[in-house]
Order: sequence, then C-alpha cells, then structure tokens
Amino acid sequence: MSTLRHFLDFQQLEGTALRDILDRATAYKNGAKAPSLAGKTLALVFEKPSTRTRISFEVGMQAMDGKTVNLTQGDSQLGRGETIADTARVLSRYVDVIMLRTSEEKNLLEMAEHATVPVINGLTDASHPCQLMADVMTFEEHRGPIGKKRIAWCGDGNNVASTWIQASARFGFELRLACPPSRQPAQALLDWAAKAGGQISAFDDPLTAVADADCIVTDTWFSMGQSNGDGTRQLLGPYQVNDAVMQAAKKDAIFMHCLPAHRGEEVTASVIDGPQSVVWDEAENRLHAQKGILSWCLT
Ligand code: CP
Ligand code: NVA
Repeated sequence: MSTLRHFLDFQQLEGTALRDILDRATAYKNGAKAPSLAGKTLALVFEKPSTRTRISFEVGMQAMDGKTVNLTQGDSQLGRGETIADTARVLSRYVDVIMLRTSEEKNLLEMAEHATVPVINGLTDASHPCQLMADVMTFEEHRGPIGKKRIAWCGDGNNVASTWIQASARFGFELRLACPPSRQPAQALLDWAAKAGGQISAFDDPLTAVADADCIVTDTWFSMGQSNGDGTRQLLGPYQVNDAVMQAAKKDAIFMHCLPAHRGEEVTASVIDGPQSVVWDEAENRLHAQKGILSWCLT
C-alpha cells in the first residue's frame, strides 16, 4: 500500500489529518515559519481555468522556497491524448508533488494511482477539498470552532457543495442544503456522510434552510464545463442569496463564496459586498491553506 500523502478528498482523509493541515495553515498565517521546500518542485496541471488555486499554490510554494511548473491541457500532450497514467509516471521523475485540476474524478484517481509522488486535488467535477480547507479556516477565524455550528448552502448542489457535505462529517458541523430537486448532490455522497457522522438535511425553501445559520454559502450556478442552459436561471433563481435570505439567518451570520462570483445571479452585490461577507479573507486563506497542504504532503 502506498505511503504517499495524497490530498484527494475528504472521504479518503481522516479528520485528524485535516485538522493537522488546518493547524499548520493557521500557524503560518499567524507568523510561524513554514518548513523549507527548497529543492522541491510542484507541478500544477490545469485542464480547467483557475485564478486563486493557481496563484495561491505558486505564491505558497515560492514562500516556502520551492518551485512550480505549470502544465495546461492545451499546451501539453494531455490535449493530444497522452494518458493521465503516463503523464503521472513522467511527472513523478521530474517533480516532488503534483496538483491536478480536471473534470472527471477518475482522472485524479488515475493520477494518484500511477504517480510516485503525492497528488493534490485542485478541483474536479465532484469535489474541491483545497477550497474547503480555506473555508473551514475562515469560518473558525470569524466564529470559532466549527463543530456543532450550523452552515446553510443555497444553490447548485455542485462540487463545492459536495465537499461541504464531506466536511460536515469530518468536522462535525450541521449542514442544511437548499438546492433545486434536479440539482441535489449525489445520494450516495449523502448516504456516506450520514454514516460518517455528518448532520445534513435538505430543504425546499432557502429561508427555512438558513434559519439560525451561523454561515450561508453559495457558488456559481454555472460550474466550469456546464452549459449556460436557459432554464438554469429560472431553476436556481429562488435559491439566490440576497438580503432577505441573510436576514433569515442569525444576526451575525457570515457569508462565504469560493469565487469567482456572479453578482445578480447566485448572490446579490448587497450581500457579497456587504458587512457580513468574508469572501476576501476566504480567498486569502487559500494561500495559507495551500501551504498547510504542501507541508503536510511533503514534510
Ligand atoms: N475558488 C477557486 O478555486 O478559484 P479558481 O477557480 O480561481 O482557482
Ligand atoms: N463550482 C465551481 C467552482 C469554481 C472554483 C466550478 O466548478 O466551476
């Protein structure tokens, strides 16, 4: 069995490992010196666009004295059909850790199976665990330990929602979902989370879902690779996070969004640019969280 420390998703990572990573990230943010990654190189492989994930990994790696190399589908042999397995074998001869952003989860699993260095999930259609490390960190900075707190998700039951579901099981908070019936997260994931100790419930009405919530979260109605179908805006419109939704939560509830955001769609400008929004802290914490993940994978 591999002893490599892959960072693939919260179903494969113990709560203790996730807490270890968060502790590292928080310590680095508060001024503790991160371990040196001098002589180490991170390969960033992007089959989809990115701003935060790419830059936070690059800057994080530089801050730890390591180096990065970038590969995108269009400018590599991946775009011409070279397999993920062969790419994994080759990259492992050059670099010390690989981050992959891809569509299908099976690509990530193939990369991890054939790499001989740790592999980090930089987002798939199924999950976005690097994002959730920053999200939990941000929540705890603003509201203290997340265990037993109430988080409400309004909108598309997408990859980020799915990772919140996994996180509910791993960190012991309550998650209330308000998603249209045709955009619910996968039932198999909900079943796993219930068995793993997650406290998750689904609501038709966002105002009911957010009652007494400590935090409201949403994400784009159009994830990368999804078509901008005409019906989507009508379908998801009732799940928009607006002032009425924020007012139905706890008075001091915070608002989070992984970004990029679309004002007037999943969230109004009054909310994302308003006093309860912590999205810029959340974006900053991607950097600290990446350093925590890199240090956990490599040292
Ligand atoms: N939140 C997030 O992952 O952003 P990017 O797509 O810009 O990396
Ligand atoms: N759900 C979004 C997240 C972007 C960071 C997407 O997959 O496009």
